[in-house]
Amino acid sequence: MIQHSLKELLKKADQGGYAIPSFNYSDIWDFLAIIEAAEEEEAPVMIASNPLVVMDIGVELCGAFGKAAMEKAKTPLIHHLDHSFRVDMCKSAIDYGYPSVMIDASKYSLKENIKAVQEVVAYAHPQGVHVEAEIGKIKGKGIEGDFKGGDFLVQVDEAAALVKETGVDSLAVGIGTAHGFYEGKPEINFQRLAEVNKAIDTPLVLHGGTGIPEEDIRKAIKNGINKVNVGTIIHCTYMNNLREELVKMGPNPYTLDVVKPVKEKIKEVVKMWIRTCMVNGKA
Ligand code: 13P
Repeated sequence: MIQHSLKELLKKADQGGYAIPSFNYSDIWDFLAIIEAAEEEEAPVMIASNPLVVMDIGVELCGAFGKAAMEKAKTPLIHHLDHSFRVDMCKSAIDYGYPSVMIDASKYSLKENIKAVQEVVAYAHPQGVHVEAEIGKIKGKGIEGDFKGGDFLVQVDEAAALVKETGVDSLAVGIGTAHGFYEGKPEINFQRLAEVNKAIDTPLVLHGGTGIPEEDIRKAIKNGINKVNVGTIIHCTYMNNLREELVKMGPNPYTLDVVKPVKEKIKEVVKMWIRTCMVNGKA
C-alpha cells in the first residue's frame, strides 16, 4: 500500500461525516490485531504508540514495525506518536519514520505550548510529517498524570492563536473527555466543540474514547471531530483475555496458541470502534 497523507484522510473524513480512529498499541500482538481488524473492515485507521511504549520497546523498533506495517497494509494506515511531552522524542520518532507525531504541551502556558509546537512543526513539515497539538486538557488518569482540575475546557481564542502561530495540522481539544474508564456518563461540552470548529479549519481530535457512548461519539463527529483516540479498552481487552486464556491453557502454554484467541477479542473491539466512527468501507 502506498503512503497515505493523513491530511487527505482527515479531509475526506470531514467531508464524509466520519472520523479516523487512532488505536493505541502496547506490543506486536495488539498492533497486528488492530491492523487485521482495519483490513477486514476496509477502514483507514491510525495506530499509535504512547511514550511509555516507545521508551520500553525503543523508537527504532517501533519506527521499523510502523514503517513495515504501513507498506504492507491493504488499507491506509498511519503510524503515530501519541502524547509526547518532549520535543526531542517527536524529532526522533520522525527520524525513525513516523509520519505523524503529537506534541502535548497543554500543561504549560499558551506561550510555552506554542513554542514547543513551533519547534516540532519546524522539524516535521519539511519532511512531510503531520503534527498534532493539544489545547485545553484531557481529564482522567492518563500517562500525563491524574488531571481532575476544572480548567480543562478549551478556550476558543487560545485554540485560534495556537493554530495561527504554529500552522499545526490537527488539534486535540479539552471538552470534558477523559483518559481511562469514566466514572458515570461522560459530560462532553458539544457547544464549545462547535465553537472551536467554527473558529478554525484545523481538524479536531477527541481523546479519551474508551467509555464514550456511540451516540456521543457521533454527535462529536457532527460537531467537528475528525479523529477519535481509543486506548484503555484495547489494552484492558488484551490483558483480561490473556489472563483468561492462560488460565484455560494450564501449565506450559505456547505463546502463539495463547495470543491467537486474544487477538480475535481485540479485533472485535477495534471493529466496533471502526463502525462507531463510521469509517468502515472508507478505505
Ligand atoms: P482512552 O484510553 O480513554 O481510550 O484514551 C486514549 C487516548 O486518548 C490516547 O491519546
